[in-house]
Order: sequence, then C-alpha cells, then structure tokens
Amino acid sequence: MADGVFVPPPPRLVEGAHCSSMQQYNDMYKQSIDDPEAFWGAIADQFYWKERHTGKFCDYNFDASKGKVFIEWMRGAKTNICYNALDRHVQGGHADRVAFFWEGNEPADEDRLTYGQLLERVQRCASGLRALGVARGHCVAVYLPMIPELVVTLLACARIGAVHSVVFGGFSADALADRVLDAKCDVMVTSDGFWRGNKLVHLKEIADHAAELCAARDHRLRRVVVVRHLPRLHQHQHPANGAGGGDAQPAKRAQFDVQASWDAARDLWWEDMMSEAALECEPEWMDAEDPLFMLYTSGSTGKPKGVLHTTAGYMLYAATTFKYTFDYHLEDVYWCTADIGWITGHSYVAYGPMLNCATSVMFEGSPFYPSGERPWQIIDKYKVSKFYTAPTAIRALMRLGDDIVTKHSRQSLKVLGSVGEPINPEAWLWYHRVVGGGRCAVVDTFWQTETGGHVLTPLPAATPTKPGSACRPFFGVQPALLDENGAEIAGEGEGYLVFRRPWPGIMRTVYGNHQRFETTYFKKFNGFYCTGDGARRDADGYLWVTGRIDDMLNVSGHLLSTAQIESALIEHPSVSEAAVVAVPHSIKGEAVYCFITNKQGEPWTDELRKELILKVRERIGAFAAPDYLQCAPGLPKTRSGKIMRRVLRKIAQDDRDLGDVSTMADESVIALLFQHRTAQLL
Ligand code: WTA
Repeated sequence: MADGVFVPPPPRLVEGAHCSSMQQYNDMYKQSIDDPEAFWGAIADQFYWKERHTGKFCDYNFDASKGKVFIEWMRGAKTNICYNALDRHVQGGHADRVAFFWEGNEPADEDRLTYGQLLERVQRCASGLRALGVARGHCVAVYLPMIPELVVTLLACARIGAVHSVVFGGFSADALADRVLDAKCDVMVTSDGFWRGNKLVHLKEIADHAAELCAARDHRLRRVVVVRHLPRLHQHQHPANGAGGGDAQPAKRAQFDVQASWDAARDLWWEDMMSEAALECEPEWMDAEDPLFMLYTSGSTGKPKGVLHTTAGYMLYAATTFKYTFDYHLEDVYWCTADIGWITGHSYVAYGPMLNCATSVMFEGSPFYPSGERPWQIIDKYKVSKFYTAPTAIRALMRLGDDIVTKHSRQSLKVLGSVGEPINPEAWLWYHRVVGGGRCAVVDTFWQTETGGHVLTPLPAATPTKPGSACRPFFGVQPALLDENGAEIAGEGEGYLVFRRPWPGIMRTVYGNHQRFETTYFKKFNGFYCTGDGARRDADGYLWVTGRIDDMLNVSGHLLSTAQIESALIEHPSVSEAAVVAVPHSIKGEAVYCFITNKQGEPWTDELRKELILKVRERIGAFAAPDYLQCAPGLPKTRSGKIMRRVLRKIAQDDRDLGDVSTMADESVIALLFQHRTAQLL
C-alpha cells in the first residue's frame, strides 16, 4: 500500500476551519489526553445543564482483573439531550432554520422540517408517549423507515427519559422479536410500510408477526403506534409507478393489510396519538449517566448485544465528533446516507447534527433508485457540502462510470466521509478525484456501535490523509496495538487495535448483561478496550484498520457474526453442520460463504439452497443472506473438534496454500471441499 503518499487538506477548507492545522490538532489532542476535564469541560460549557456534575469529571476502571469495569463521565450533572438538540436552538433564534430536508424514495416526495416545527412535534409525541404509560427508564422499540417521525420518536423518548431501542427496518420479525424481548419493550412505534426502490415493505405485518412471536414467549406488546406513511407518498397516486411484482395497486393493498390485522386494543395511529396529545412537554432532567438508548449489534456468540449508551458523555461526543470531523458550519448542508437503524444514523443523522443545529438531508430511498444518478442529483438539489456514506455504496457507484457523476455540478461539496468498513485505496481515490473533483477532503472514519462516535479519523482542514487509512485518533482517544500476548507494539507494526482509556462516548454496558460487556471487550487484554479489529501503524504513525480478527463479517458495512448465520442454517432439518466465513467481494467488501454438511442421505439440491437462503432471511433479514452455499461432506476440524475457519477461508478463495494443517484431525476432507467449491454467486 502507498504508505508514503500524503494527500494534503484542500487549501480552500483551511480558513475558518474549527481545526485548521496539524499544529492545532496536536495541541488540542495533547490537552484532551493530559487534562480531559479542561478539554471536555470547555465543550460542556456550550450545552445546557440543569445542574453541573458533583463527583469526578471522569471515573473508570478498564482492568477486569481488578474489579468491575465501569465508565462514568460527569456523574451528578443533570441535562436532557432533546433540550440541547431542540429547545436550545429555538431559544437561540433558530426556530426557522431547516433541520431536515426529507427526500423520499420517489424523487417527487419531499418535505422539510425546521427546528421550531420539530420541537412542536417532539413535544406532542413525548406527551403522547407519556399518555400511553411510557415513563422515565422504560424502553421503547422503534421499527420505522427513514421518515421524519423516526427522528421525532427518538427525541421524544429522550425528552421523557425513556430509552429507545431502534431496530433497523431490514430486520425480520424473528430478529425484531428477539430485540423486543431482550429489552422487555411494551410499546413500539412502527409504520404501515415503506418503499425501498421498487420494493414495498409491509412493516406493520412484520411488526404484527413479531408481536405474535413475543406473545408466544409470554411477553405482551401493550401498545403499537403506527405511522400512516404509504398513503402520503407519490407512489400512492401513481400505483403503476414501480409497482413491480404485478401488483396493480400496492399502496392500497398495504393499507388494506394494515386494517385487516388491526388490534384495536393495542394499535393506535400516530396521528391520533399526536392530535390528542398535550402541546407542551417538560423535559425530564436526566443524570449524566442515565441510559439514553440501546442499539443491538452482532455478537460473536450469535446472540446480539444491546449496546447501552448514556446521556451526557454520548451527547458531548456525538456533537464534538460531528463538528470537527465534518468541520460543520451553519452555512453547510450535510447529508449522511446511513439508516437510523444503525449507529451511524443515531450519531450522524440524528444526534450529532441536531446538537450542532445543522441542516441535513434525510433520505428514505436507495442511492440506486431510480438510477445511480440519485446521489449526485440530491447533492445538487440541496447544495450538499458535507457528504457521508459507506465504501460499499462508493464502490457500486464507481462501477457505473464517471460520466453519470461528472454531468452533475457537485460544486457545493467540501468534505466526503466514509464509514463502516475499510475503504480500499482505489475507491478512496475515485471518491476524491471524481466525486470530489479533487477539491474535497476525504475523511475515512473508523468507529463502532460501541464507541458512540468516530475514534480514528482525519480532520478535513488539518490532517494530510493517506488513501485507505483512518489516520489519527480523535480527541481524547488513545489507541494502542497489542500482540497476541498483550505486549504493546511500539512504532511500525500490526496487531490488535485497542484503546487505553475511555472517551465520553464509549458504551457503558451490554443491556442486562454487564458480565458479557466485561468479557467481550476487556478480558482479552486487561486494562484496554478491545475493538475486535486488527490495525497496522506505518512509519508516519498513521493507523490502517485491517478488519475484524474475530468471527465477524462485514457485509456492505453491516456487521454480522458467523455464529448468527450458522445457527439459522442449522435449523434446517436437512443440515447437520454449517460453517460460515467471509470472502472478499469487490462491492460489498465481504460476502457470506457457507459450508453446509447435510444429514446422512439428504441430497444437495437447488431446493435446499433456496430454503437455506430463506432461513437466513427469516431469522435475521435479507441483508444477511448467503452469497455462496457449498456442500461440505465434512468440515476441517482440530483434534479437539474446533472448526478451522482459517482453512475454510482459504478454500472459499480457492487458495491451495493452506499453511500449517498439522492440528487437523482428518485431512482427507480438504480435497473433497475443493472439489465441491462454488464460485457461483447466488
Ligand atoms: C468496521 C459502524 C475500517 C470495523 C460505525 C468495526 C471500519 C465495525 C471502519 C463496526 C473504517 C467501521 N475502516 N473498518 N473506517 N468503520 N469499520 O458497529 O470492523 O456497525 O469494528 O459501526 O465496522 O461496525 P458497527
């Protein structure tokens, strides 16, 4: 890799930047490490506090061998993140400022919401949720498409001190039920459905199914609030438009479906909740360490973890990373393409931008619908200056050729962000040269659901970047590289990426399972937070994240565990064993490659392959579906019976250089596995 090539920050970004030189970055970074209280305290001064902290500014233990792992910032301080994201701006004279330009799946569907309007709707929604019995500390499940009501619901929960648990709209009923049960949510907010490209998703049907699954496990969803979204869409007036699947009036049908399964004792239309709700709703003053939200992320055991974030630390961190990483100024229009169902949407569609009084684009659709021109059209339409998306999208858009990009102006662009997976230098350079016309900074931001915000990232007007490197730590973050024995690697080298101390936005626990929090993140290397990623430090001290070093896959920026997919596959009655590995994929980054051992006598058929794909879709969601399925008469195992994934990865990639196989119990399976290899994408 081109370690030595620096791309300097674009000179036009330097003037007026929040951080305009490496000197300034180094000084600020030094203060954030030497005196975190002074550094974060000055930032905290810009927010509203009902009361300031009483105890230590930051208290923690990262060493599991010395007792309970814990992290606390500003314990005793009282605030409300919704108040800081809305009331503070409205009182500051920004009521008429646009918070969101909403752009629907169809280009004709658009809306805009000012800070003043948002505050009104959020207060109503908060009062409405309270009237439904939602109180401080309760957990609300949110299963919505990318519509303004999603942001309204999150802020309304935060306003009344309820914890939100957003479940991505692409998750199946099973996955939704698991999450509702784990958090014991008894209220859910969902919608009738939504369109993604040509596909109509009946969200309410899936939610109903999930409610049945919960009921079968003795848990009742007491109230389900339903946003009526489909009838207000352009598709509704033009049912032929993108109807697909031969369904003449899909929007009508969706409405019908919703009514057919309506449970009057439980279900409630959003508009009815809003119209009956009180106009004003006093915020609950929350302790700095009170929970704000949980968000499930894949765990290597297969059971998702409810990553819990608290109030004040998350607020400071989401706001500060947003401000510096994108160098946000009030004249900017910002657009992050992520869905709020993932952490990127929480921190960089909802909280980070709103805490900075930003004007953002919120996009319901897909970057490829109606065509791959859509992102560039949207950028020109709203004069987007800061754009944030995933390498998978960049690679797929790159495939479509430069012309459809360059025929649009894109003159407004200044900063281009990348998130969710390693970005290969080729895609980075295309993003910089073609999308940015060579005039923009590219910021490759490394972080995780657990970190709450960016932990490694360049700053656009300060950091000389290197294509493919996430460069340097953000303020307050101290990375280290460790070898297998926990010894620190100084200077150039490659190892486990860990962090030495907490920054304000780090997760506090796994919901309902603090022990799992300690074991997953702190046990392997006492005294450090372990990311599960590998990284390399080059001669200039730049960090290059190489990817997961545990049993996780990153498919199109979605983190999945091999165990989670395997347990879905094994449920099929014909399967006796399944092993899943990641293989490189030119667009998705990684693809899901499955080895399936059938039960004795069960044939390997197209039918079975279809059923296996369906199983994964049912258990997790379409985004986790296998890309390759191969028959495996046996699996390579150690003598103690552990599957040798390292060997399977080689087979999947048709690499005959298997390395050391001396621990393998039965080498004869190898030849058979190569024989059955499949290069055919499903
Ligand atoms: C990967 C997404 C390389 C990494 C914000 C991490 C990245 C996982 C990058 C977290 C990046 C995220 N370069 N790898 N810039 N950003 N990752 O929790 O493996 O969905 O551990 O959070 O994505 O995924 P998560």
